[in-house]
Amino acid sequence: MSRLFEPLQIGPLRLANRIIIAPMCQYSASEGSANDWHLVHLGHLALSGAGMLIVEATAVSPEGRITAADLGLYDDANEAALARVLGVVRAQSPIKLGMQLAHAGRKASSRAPWEGGAQVPLGQPGGWRALAPSALPHAAGEEPPLALDAAGLQKIRADFARAAERAARLGLDGLEIHAAHGYLLHQFLSPIANRRSDAYGGSLENRMRFPLEIFDVVRAAFPADKPVWARISATDWVPGGWDIEGTVALSQALKARGCAAIHVSSGGVSPQQKIAVGPGYQVPFAARVKAEVGLPTIAVGLITEPEQAESIVASGQADAVSLARAMLYDPRWPWHAAAKLGARVSAPHQYWRSQPREYKDLFDNASLGAR
Ligand SMILES: Cc1cc2nc3c(=O)[nH]c(=O)nc-3n(C[C@H](O)[C@H](O)[C@H](O)COP(=O)(O)O)c2cc1C
Repeated sequence: MSRLFEPLQIGPLRLANRIIIAPMCQYSASEGSANDWHLVHLGHLALSGAGMLIVEATAVSPEGRITAADLGLYDDANEAALARVLGVVRAQSPIKLGMQLAHAGRKASSRAPWEGGAQVPLGQPGGWRALAPSALPHAAGEEPPLALDAAGLQKIRADFARAAERAARLGLDGLEIHAAHGYLLHQFLSPIANRRSDAYGGSLENRMRFPLEIFDVVRAAFPADKPVWARISATDWVPGGWDIEGTVALSQALKARGCAAIHVSSGGVSPQQKIAVGPGYQVPFAARVKAEVGLPTIAVGLITEPEQAESIVASGQADAVSLARAMLYDPRWPWHAAAKLGARVSAPHQYWRSQPREYKDLFDNASLGAR
């Protein structure tokens, strides 16, 4: 019996299996609004048989976008555009739909990766002054962000709350708060980006304060019978930066506030990072969070093989795996994993005839007839 294909409970939300499609920015929106690309992209991933699809980092304000083409959920047009896309996806697939709410902080005002990914200077098209805990640029030579004052912090709390209300109206099954990869909330956590001397900087408790406040406002604005969880970078991969001890402390504080799961990634706050990349390289961080915090824990990062994913879950290192690049490369990854692991997976009835002869029980409920 495959453990990867056992159902998973994330708070009140039941996933059919433990394969999650990681959030992936598409840098293809118009003024924050989803379009036909998102319909095709999310639509085809929704047919994959994964337990949950997490919609890409979705900005809570225009200035919180990484690039001017990021997806957003800050105005009525954004909400209407997503209602169309998610409505179509939901009508065609039983997959659970999560969404990652995000603010880029000092990594805002960038070009898309395929345009080089550099900062766009203020005054150029797609360029604006970024906001951050401290007026420290992400990389040397970049324009520094504006350090947030009390009114700026209050606006961001309100932006997250309003985006969560919009997400609730869209019927999303769960929300992930993006506190990883060097974006705004991670910037507050990391002593590399946070040099504040007020209640939001200095001690670990102070650095965790703003991310925890954001969790609270999102939790309060989203239906109580649906889960809210967080994605965290477990380490900055820089000496003196954010680390796994902080990650465990933050996860415990989140748990006490009703967080339903922790999605454990790493890195992103500093160009000085030295990442020890390899298959499943972030799994040990997930294992530590799971062992010490006890919340449902999602491992991510170079998980590419069905047997590897199965062993991460079966050995208890994590409760679920999330995949990004492997799902783009092979959008039927969960089908192939189920075939290899002797499990069953949901597939659209229109595709049932594709079930290979040697996997007679692969698709849930599949039965076909003809005259
Ligand atoms: C195209 C692309 C877009 C991504 N966008 C996001 C994002 O919106 N939010 C996020 O937290 N991580 C994002 N990531 C990181 C992935 O979610 C994932 O953590 C990372 O790619 C490692 O997993 P993998 O080895 O399975 O690709 C992105 C990765 C890719 C490849």
